[in-house]
Amino acid sequence: MTDTCPYEKDRNDGGIFIMTSVPDSVGASSASLTQSAVMQGDAELVLRKLPSDFFRCCVTSPPYWGLRDYEADGQIGAEDDPMEYIRRLVVVFEQVRRVLAHDGTLWLNIGDSYTSGNREYRAPDKKNPVRAMSHRAPTPTGLKPKDLVGIPWRLALALQEAGWYLRSDIIWEKPNCMPESVRDRPTRAHEYVFLLTKSLNYSYNRDAARGPNGRNRRTVWPIPTEPFSGAHFATFPPRLVENCIFPSTQPGDWVLDPFFGAGTVGVVCKENNRRYVGVELNPAYVRIALERIERTQPRLLPEAGGWPDESV
Ligand SMILES: C[S@@+](CC[C@H](N)C(=O)[O-])C[C@H]1O[C@@H](n2cnc3c(N)ncnc32)[C@H](O)[C@@H]1O
Repeated sequence: MTDTCPYEKDRNDGGIFIMTSVPDSVGASSASLTQSAVMQGDAELVLRKLPSDFFRCCVTSPPYWGLRDYEADGQIGAEDDPMEYIRRLVVVFEQVRRVLAHDGTLWLNIGDSYTSGNREYRAPDKKNPVRAMSHRAPTPTGLKPKDLVGIPWRLALALQEAGWYLRSDIIWEKPNCMPESVRDRPTRAHEYVFLLTKSLNYSYNRDAARGPNGRNRRTVWPIPTEPFSGAHFATFPPRLVENCIFPSTQPGDWVLDPFFGAGTVGVVCKENNRRYVGVELNPAYVRIALERIERTQPRLLPEAGGWPDESV
């Protein structure tokens, strides 16, 4: 760990319950969770302590394979073998499935990665050492140098095999994507969001998912990224989180993010009167998330909703 959590013991802080050592009793019954909470620890281990059939919705973005160093022992994404990375995520999402309500939904944002092309080291980013993994995994068995790994679909199919209903793949198009210094392929300007469910029938308010023209939502969401200077990694644009929670939840419902990062899901939930649990491994990011959430005010008006312009 690079930092210690300033919250040395559990305390109630401005309406958020912060847990730095999550007791087993949290999951004794759903009655033991009454207000939003940020829990510091490993996603799988913390989720094991949470009550079954509890959350209406999960919106999350796990670390991408081999991309960023979140500087915490036990972090996901640093595995040499992408299939090991997928296996670890499937185990975490088995716990997510258990804690989701029967009619719950999972909105899973995930991006792809390339094999290293036999380069083992990345030049360190002097301005921001957290940004990229300095070590690049050797080309995994079965893949070739410069191969696109296909992580999003490998993960989606592994989750489907584990029992999830795979209901939709959504392209998050980034109109302001980062330039890439590549000359032999197009610049990547998208990531995936998968909609997965625990059951055949699930909570989904179609009316909260209409575009300005009244049409049912489309599967391509053009949403610019919004860099957040306090964190050294990509945070969710709040609009993307709204697109997920508005059709899936009502005010007062519980939302989960097991890879909380800088806490964008908590910010959007607080603004829109949803309760949430965020789990984050790195105590420094827990602090960033709490500071952001504390600065956030709930909206007084009904949720604005609405959808990004959809040209298709
Ligand atoms: C892509 S970031 C999430 C960003 C978040 N969506 C936001 O808007 O700020 C992924 C996060 O997962 C955390 N993480 C990595 N391994 C973890 C683990 N085993 N358990 C819990 N969190 C973990 C990282 O520290 C990082 O903050």
